[in-house]
Amino acid sequence: MRDADAFDARELRRVLGTFVTGVTVVTTIDDEGRYHGLTANSFSSVSLDPPLVLWSQAMKAPSHATFSKAHRFAINILAEDQISLSNRFAKSSPDKFAGLDVDVGLGGVPLLRDCSAWLECSVVSRMPGGDHTIYVGEVASISRTERKPLVFGNGKYLLADPHDLGEEKAGGGHSQLRATRLGARAIERLARRFDETMALAVWGNHGPTITMWEPASVSVSDHLPVGLILPVTSTATGLAFAAHLPAATVRQIAWPDADLSSDAIFGWEQSLSDIRRRGLARQGFETFYGSEILINALSAPVLDTNGHAVLALTAVGEASRFRADFDSPLAQALKETAEGLSHRLGYAALESYGRARSFAVAGAR
Ligand SMILES: Cc1cc2nc3c(=O)[nH]c(=O)nc-3n(C[C@H](O)[C@H](O)[C@H](O)COP(=O)(O)O)c2cc1C
Repeated sequence: MRDADAFDARELRRVLGTFVTGVTVVTTIDDEGRYHGLTANSFSSVSLDPPLVLWSQAMKAPSHATFSKAHRFAINILAEDQISLSNRFAKSSPDKFAGLDVDVGLGGVPLLRDCSAWLECSVVSRMPGGDHTIYVGEVASISRTERKPLVFGNGKYLLADPHDLGEEKAGGGHSQLRATRLGARAIERLARRFDETMALAVWGNHGPTITMWEPASVSVSDHLPVGLILPVTSTATGLAFAAHLPAATVRQIAWPDADLSSDAIFGWEQSLSDIRRRGLARQGFETFYGSEILINALSAPVLDTNGHAVLALTAVGEASRFRADFDSPLAQALKETAEGLSHRLGYAALESYGRARSFAVAGAR
């Protein structure tokens, strides 16, 4: 028995919702040849040999009477563009299949079209599981497509994208790894020397992404999240990258939908050229991720042979104490360290500097 005061049903739902899943529609056919189906994310693999899967169904679901008698079911794993299908099968209705083209699978069970994958199963056991029935099925047939699966978590539909900190990207991975190693050592040294919190960031699929922190003895926060994606236009780290990446790359992340006025572009270009001139970007009074704490931040870009920013070295401190002045010893050291790393990565200052400028101007037209 559970302690009734320990948690309530809503909190249990919220906790369970943090476990992200795919979305399936489980389908079957009844004795009269009518199709049935419901959206289910309780689907799970059980065994490879024999090939077994399970899913569970609320006993109060109107279609429970049918599924609890069925000898077969199909798991249709929905693709990322099938949210409307998911919603259609998550609402009770006698004609969920109206107007829907389906393929006919084993035992006449309907298979939805354009899914990511399908598993056709015969029921091997039905077990009570509280207010649900758990169905275990032996997989008789499988197929899949290249369509990306739909994802569900925290009560929302999500997209499946590789994590920036997962496997290395193909091509350029080796030099990125070298840059990251050098950057990690550099921020360690800077954090020790100045006793300020330092971060290392890369430009990931979603923009500036923190890959490592070196906390000061008194850190900005107890929670320094790795993988944090920073806004491009309102953080020192974002600006350090923006000043040294092709304008189109930056715009795609910073303003994916906007049609910017020439005034806005002019102001933006001006601030980027100041950053290029100084070798440092600064942002005052940002609120630190997930808190009310106001911070100042100073960031220096590390450039590769093409003059593209591959890393940013960023110092952050509470605004009440850390002024982030451009002429402070920390600012000088940050800039010199980033320049030293750029040099080691093969950046030849003058030539690439010219190129970096022309990127920004070309993109602004
Ligand atoms: C993303 C998502 C996942 C769901 N997962 C399940 C599940 O695993 N089991 C279940 O019984 N109901 C689940 N539901 C709810 C059913 O789809 C919903 O109750 C549906 O109306 C049941 O079909 P029926 O009314 O035809 O019986 C889920 C709904 C959504 C939106």
